[in-house]
Formats: sequence, structure tokens, C-alpha cells
Amino acid sequence: MTGRFIEYPLEKVHRLFEPGPVVLVSTSDGRGRTNLMTNGFNMPVRHSTTVALVLGPWDHSFSALRETGECVIGIPGRDILEAVVDIGNVSGADVDKWERFGMTPAPAATVRPPLITECFANVECTVTDDRLVDDFDLWLLRVERAWIDPAAPEGSEIHHRGNGTFSTNGEVVDLRSRMTKWEALTGD
Ligand SMILES: Cc1cc2nc3c(=O)[nH]c(=O)nc-3n(C[C@H](O)[C@H](O)[C@H](O)COP(=O)(O)O)c2cc1C
Repeated sequence: MTGRFIEYPLEKVHRLFEPGPVVLVSTSDGRGRTNLMTNGFNMPVRHSTTVALVLGPWDHSFSALRETGECVIGIPGRDILEAVVDIGNVSGADVDKWERFGMTPAPAATVRPPLITECFANVECTVTDDRLVDDFDLWLLRVERAWIDPAAPEGSEIHHRGNGTFSTNGEVVDLRSRMTKWEALTGD
């Protein structure tokens, strides 16, 4: 106990940093076999150009990303959340998750892995730096192209709270007028 605080277990600390969106990662191995996995540990790193993902060797997708250096990150909405969780509970080594979970591939513009039609947004990525992969399973990805369904309401992404519970976005607090140093970020 320290003042108002009780100790919080280190193994739960990631819950405080989530919720970035829970995403689907689409890969294609050297033979063109495509796969999907669920990812909750992700973050933007540089505006417009760079995002980061934790994706480890326990995932079948790992070898495809290693081999090809390409992926598509799909941002799912509430409508497919159950499938998103199921996709993160089976291996692409055992099943064709596109078929099993009713996901529809669509061609990407710059990479071989397909876009995921059922996601409301898709981001085409190439590996820009894998120096932290061996130690931390952390991939730095260059954003090549991004696509969004213009009909999807803003803030449609879903957040994993780190323990199998999820939240949708709630109240929007508009503090754009206070972003005086970062005005360039506040446009529509
Ligand atoms: C909600 C959720 C979040 C997950 N987040 C990650 C993650 O951030 N990084 C990771 O490597 N695996 C994560 N996983 C686990 C993978 O999705 C899981 O190992 C999956 O079966 C990998 O598929 P694959 O073996 O076909 O590549 C998550 C799973 C779930 C259900």
C-alpha cells in the first residue's frame, strides 16, 4: 500500500496500456498460403508511416511474416468480434481460418497478403525493422497503403481489455481546442 495505491501485479500491467484496437493480421507464406491471426498488442509509432506489432513464434503466422516481410492489418468492428476471438484460438497450421470463420480475401495494392473484407479498415504493411523480434517479438512495420469503408462510423474499433473481455468506444471527449501544439492532427 502506498497512499491511495495497492500494488498491481506486473503480469497485469499490459491491461493498463491496452486498449489499442484488437486487430486481425493477414499473412501469405512463400507458397501463397494465406492465414489470419488475432493481435491485441499493437501501437502506432510514427505518424503516417510506422506501426508496431507483437507477433511471436508461437503463432503459425510468424514464419510467413519472417519469410515475406509483408502483412495486412485488418481493423474489425463489433459485428465480427466473436470470429476475431475464435481466430486467435486456433492455428492456421490446422485449419483454413478464412473459410472456417467466413472471412473474405480481397486483393491488396502493394503486398501479397489479402485485405479482409469483413474488417471496416485494412492497412497494408511491410517489415521495416525486425531487430527487436528475437528479444521481444516486436515488429516495426512500414505502412504502405490503408483502406477504410466510408460507411463505417468513426470509432468502430474494438478494444481488448487483456483478459478476454472487450469494450467498444464510449463517450467521445472533444479537446481539439486544447491541442495547440498539435493542431495539424486535429483535422477531420
Ligand atoms: C484477443 C486476442 C489477442 C491476441 N493478441 C496477440 C498478440 O498481440 N500477439 C500474438 O502473437 N498473439 C496474440 N494472440 C494469439 C494469436 O492470435 C494465436 O496464437 C493464434 O492462434 C495465432 O494464429 P496462427 O497460429 O494461425 O498464426 C491473441 C489472441 C487473442 C484471442
